[in-house]
Amino acid sequence: MILLTGATGYIGSHTWVEMLNAGYDVVGLDNLCNSSDLVLDRIRSITKIPPIFVKSDVCDEQSLRRVFQQYPIDSVVHFAALKAVGESVQKPMKYYKNNVGGIINLLNICSEFSCKNFVFSSSATVYHPENPTPYLEDMPLGPANPYGWTKMMCEQVLRDYELLDSKFKVAYLRYFNPVGAHQSGLIGENPMGVPNNLMPFIAQVAVGRRDYLSIYGGDWLTIDGTGVRDYIHVSDLAKGHVAAINYLLRDKKSLTVNLGTGQGTSVLELLKAFEIATGQVIPYRIIDRRPGDIATSYANVDAAKKMLNWYARLTIQDMCEDVWRWQKNNPNGY
Ligand SMILES: NC(=O)c1ccc[n+]([C@@H]2O[C@H](COP(=O)([O-])OP(=O)(O)OC[C@H]3O[C@@H](n4cnc5c(N)ncnc54)[C@H](O)[C@@H]3O)[C@@H](O)[C@H]2O)c1
Repeated sequence: MILLTGATGYIGSHTWVEMLNAGYDVVGLDNLCNSSDLVLDRIRSITKIPPIFVKSDVCDEQSLRRVFQQYPIDSVVHFAALKAVGESVQKPMKYYKNNVGGIINLLNICSEFSCKNFVFSSSATVYHPENPTPYLEDMPLGPANPYGWTKMMCEQVLRDYELLDSKFKVAYLRYFNPVGAHQSGLIGENPMGVPNNLMPFIAQVAVGRRDYLSIYGGDWLTIDGTGVRDYIHVSDLAKGHVAAINYLLRDKKSLTVNLGTGQGTSVLELLKAFEIATGQVIPYRIIDRRPGDIATSYANVDAAKKMLNWYARLTIQDMCEDVWRWQKNNPNGY
């Protein structure tokens, strides 16, 4: 059985659907600090399988122990983390405590219950910003903010733990920019407060919740002066986790791979695609660059293709259409 932590969150909920569709038994766990348990009904509607859910905190070792006592968990997919880069600069201790403290607890419990397979949600933010693009897995690391450091530290904690137990295997998955929503329009990204990410911001402008999109910088050395990122459909990303679990169970080896499309898209290109998907003009203003931002980030995805036999299939237009379906059907989220 697979334990998904952070299961009701954005990527967790889409992965839960894909894991159930692939026939895996799953128990989802979340403390609901950044998600809603209304997701559970939606997962049941999509998969026709009642999801098994435990409200719990990965920082609470005793409660994790009870979950492992109750269910025969042999694999963990660990999404639970705080992820707002800006907040991590304001409150770094909160981020280290939750993200690094959480994984240490989880590994202590994995050790107690001989759980040997672990999939970790890492991020493109672990790469040093001065690396040339596309990013390759063996390029130098050097996060630019506390959130990124928590991801890099978690990777290090896992690598040290691997040395203790030769049967313990980890898939280090470095995500690029997940966007989109499930094709059903039933689950999607539901940020609390002002969105930190571009796509939910655009979608909230389109639905009338915000007046215009602010674009941070129009003078980057890119195709049109706006920042370029590697946007990946969340359902493709979710399937990458199924491929990673299959790999760990079959090959019994650890791996580190980028999960992206390998293509860069600028803010203005994404905006245009969203306008096509919605048939609306989205007002925007170009404002100052954000400190710490970079011009371009996209992945080399050869390793994921080769080792996981996985690649992203959905296009930027699919991502925009699916976000719009989700946003239109759920203008205020869940
Ligand atoms: N969304 C992105 O752009 C992105 C990019 C790279 C990596 N990641 C990583 O992917 C993972 C999932 O991200 P997401 O976008 O789905 O975020 P999310 O906030 O939607 O999901 C994370 C979930 O974890 C839960 N959570 C947080 N701390 C917890 C704790 N201590 N105990 C139990 N539950 C807890 C939250 O309630 C939330 O439901 C995170 O680890 C994030 O760092 C996300």
